[in-house]
Amino acid sequence: MMADRPAYQVQRPRRLRATPAIRDAVAETDVLPRHLVAPFFVTSGPAGPVSGMPGVERLTPDGLMPQLKRALEVGVRTVMLFGVVPDSVKDHTGTAAADSHGPVVRALRAARREFGDELVLVTDVCLCGYTDHGHCGLPGPDGRIDNDATLPLLADMASAHAEAGADLVAPSDMMDGRVGHMRAALDAGGHDGVGILSYAVKYASAFYGPFREAAGSSPGHGDRFGYQMDPRNGREALKEALLDVQQGADALVIKPALAYLDVIRSVRGVTQLPLVAYNVSGEYAMVKHAAAAGALDEARAVRETLLCMRRAGADLIISYHALEAATAGWLS
Ligand code: PBG
Repeated sequence: MMADRPAYQVQRPRRLRATPAIRDAVAETDVLPRHLVAPFFVTSGPAGPVSGMPGVERLTPDGLMPQLKRALEVGVRTVMLFGVVPDSVKDHTGTAAADSHGPVVRALRAARREFGDELVLVTDVCLCGYTDHGHCGLPGPDGRIDNDATLPLLADMASAHAEAGADLVAPSDMMDGRVGHMRAALDAGGHDGVGILSYAVKYASAFYGPFREAAGSSPGHGDRFGYQMDPRNGREALKEALLDVQQGADALVIKPALAYLDVIRSVRGVTQLPLVAYNVSGEYAMVKHAAAAGALDEARAVRETLLCMRRAGADLIISYHALEAATAGWLS
């Protein structure tokens, strides 16, 4: 009789954990190569390693092609391109961002030529890698970033990428209204088929440190707290997400990922758009350095963190571990 027995003798959750086959049968979440987006730094300057991110390199547009081939071969079909230019071409307004001969534009054209529609090509749209002050928008006379003066520059950059063959442009600057502005500019330029993957929810985070070294995009003065979100806020993420939905975003990025799983979960509840978690450079570096020091098993740590982002509600995950994880069979 059930009443005579302790509840645990009847309710035994361990039955469903008994063998790998049973665990697989009842697993709720998985992470497969198709869920990953591989980021690449493409440069018009010299190629070479990124010191804070073991295993990550800046590549020339030509040097990128074999990496894209490798991504396709392991089933990672979505890639994201970040442009890196030498300091000598940077200026106050980030003119080089919309250059029709810039590294991202050249890489897009070459990738389209070589891989047709096999790859989904996404590009980061932001001024910080192209301005001499390293901010994501234009500083006004008072030193604050001038939101509305920045919008046309971002739209020009997005249009240059659309023209060169991007499937999706991904604004990461956090200016208000940039999604709507960009949508209008893309449509006016005949690019109504190009989507916007908006970094709708982007926090001012210490975990972007290694990326800024890779992209040469650190602010020369001040910080990004005047435009990126305050890590203390959760409800504000819903406000940002819904504003971008209204303005015509096709999918939303939440960034960083690991310390913000609650945010992924809550945004999941308010939109039907695909959600993309950005497993950022500092998160990658933490795992790499801890693994190199023998503190944890890299394969298991990567699989677990990616799975947990999926469990929280992410459809896709941008991760510097994407190719390594897909190649080495760390996913499931
Ligand atoms: C550009 C941009 C940044 C990242 C993606 N796009 C840096 C920043 O906002 O300072 C960070 C990505 C990472 O850390 O992996 N604005």
